[in-house]
Amino acid sequence: MRGLFITLEGGDGAGKSTQIRNIESFFDKKGLVVVHTREPGGTAISEKLRDILLDAKNLEMNAVTEMLIYAAARAQHVREFVRPALEEGKIVICDRFVDSSIAYQAYGRDLGDMVAEVNSYAIDGLMPDITFWMDIDPKEGKERVSKMGDFDRLEMEKLDFHYKVRGGYQALAEQNPERIKRIDASKAVDEISRDIEIYLEELCRRKGL
Ligand code: TYD
Repeated sequence: MRGLFITLEGGDGAGKSTQIRNIESFFDKKGLVVVHTREPGGTAISEKLRDILLDAKNLEMNAVTEMLIYAAARAQHVREFVRPALEEGKIVICDRFVDSSIAYQAYGRDLGDMVAEVNSYAIDGLMPDITFWMDIDPKEGKERVSKMGDFDRLEMEKLDFHYKVRGGYQALAEQNPERIKRIDASKAVDEISRDIEIYLEELCRRKGL
């Protein structure tokens, strides 16, 4: 028995949280057991690593250190939470996964192929069934985040960095057209939800759910 693994990706301020709630209720209505989680985080150890990663005071953090901590948090999350939940047949919705490391660390931080290699140990062969890339112009995303309060360490990065991250997602989407679906996150919330539901209906049909 294997559940479904659904991930959401995108720049800051793309509105992932709202859509995660929507996806949850989509599966709830079908009577399926659905759980949501996030990266970095999702287990006690991974949440501690998250605090280190996002702490705005940790300005001296080296890019390689950053990449390894994201991967370490993921290694624990996959083994302690995600894979067991999938083995119990649950639908797992995850706010960010390995694509974030490719976009932010390989492209944003220019770390290149090292990121995918290290992360292959972290994910241990586990990949999402479907990934929604909530695409928004970084400038618009930044304006949305700034209305929500203080910036964390990654959000404080210059716009340049966020355009590189977006380029990373673009490349990933082109390389994985079956798995990664680009969602125009500049649309109205209801329209975005509908766009996502169309893909979910199709996925459910394919999986016989
Ligand atoms: P979060 O508060 O989850 O941001 P958002 O609300 O935008 O999803 O913080 C996670 C931050 O960490 C976000 O800026 C993206 C970054 N990140 C990476 O750089 N690499 C990764 O592998 C992951 C999972 C996140």
